[in-house]
Amino acid sequence: MKALNALFFLLLLFVAQPGIAQIKLDFGDDQYKPVRGQTGKDVVWIATNDDLVTKMLKTAQVGPSDLLYDLGAGDGAIAIAAAKDFGARAIGIEYNPKLAALAQRNAERAGVADKVKIISGDLFKEDFSKASVVTLYLLPELNLQLRPILLKMKPGTRIVSNTFDMVDWEPDVEIDQPGKAFFWIVPADVAGVWALEHFDPQLKASLSLSQRFQHIGGSLTIGDKTQPLLNPRLTGDQLQFSYIDQDNLLRVVHATINGSTMKGGSKGAITQIDFSGVRR
Ligand SMILES: C[S@@+](CC[C@H](N)C(=O)[O-])C[C@H]1O[C@@H](n2cnc3c(N)ncnc32)[C@H](O)[C@@H]1O
Repeated sequence: MKALNALFFLLLLFVAQPGIAQIKLDFGDDQYKPVRGQTGKDVVWIATNDDLVTKMLKTAQVGPSDLLYDLGAGDGAIAIAAAKDFGARAIGIEYNPKLAALAQRNAERAGVADKVKIISGDLFKEDFSKASVVTLYLLPELNLQLRPILLKMKPGTRIVSNTFDMVDWEPDVEIDQPGKAFFWIVPADVAGVWALEHFDPQLKASLSLSQRFQHIGGSLTIGDKTQPLLNPRLTGDQLQFSYIDQDNLLRVVHATINGSTMKGGSKGAITQIDFSGVRR
């Protein structure tokens, strides 16, 4: 199985990333020299190309307030770039202790040892729930194994995966150049019926939402009138939709989801109303 994984990976490297002409072959230092494609616990080691690292981190809008976790950190390239070029704190989890030690030395050489920590451990056992950004360069089945864990992370957490997608969890952004990568924002769980308070000055209101990952649909009931939501969108914990009020005017609703409560505002041409909501 591991040999097959290695073969699959090496094939992909040349087939899926044809834009990457310059392949770096010399890694490591005088203490340890890893070899591209060398066996790892669940997946072989191949470093993400520098240009793709930059593109992945830019797409995830990594910045100084972020804590990035690279799951399967290899020689630390992603964690180091996140700290050095984007000002983030970064933690890499790497199973191979020699690679983990090399990655930490690389962070020291890059002058970002104060911001980068490499843990020698198993990505399926270490806790990365505090990450605001998670990066991956694993395998399709490992992405699928991680998917339920990633979806339980704080809404708004950004995830970028080199080469491999998450099957029917469609990416929010697909990166095609200088290699293939996929970007997602963890959506809040919003499915269900929400009772809305102060949404309408006189009438009772409720919101019914259905959800598949970041895709949502639903209806709004005010008094005895129910209408479909117009252009409903969910980005992390930010819910937005529009509807037509009793004067036939468009209102735009923004709300922030916090577990089973929401707080938001409904804006029309003249009035702005603040409301709250609780999931029933
Ligand atoms: C394809 S490399 C990616 C390295 C780095 N993230 C990058 O993109 O440059 C995958 C890395 O995951 C490591 N790895 C494999 N299974 C692991 C596990 N269960 N826990 C932690 N690291 C693992 C391998 O040793 C290898 O360094």
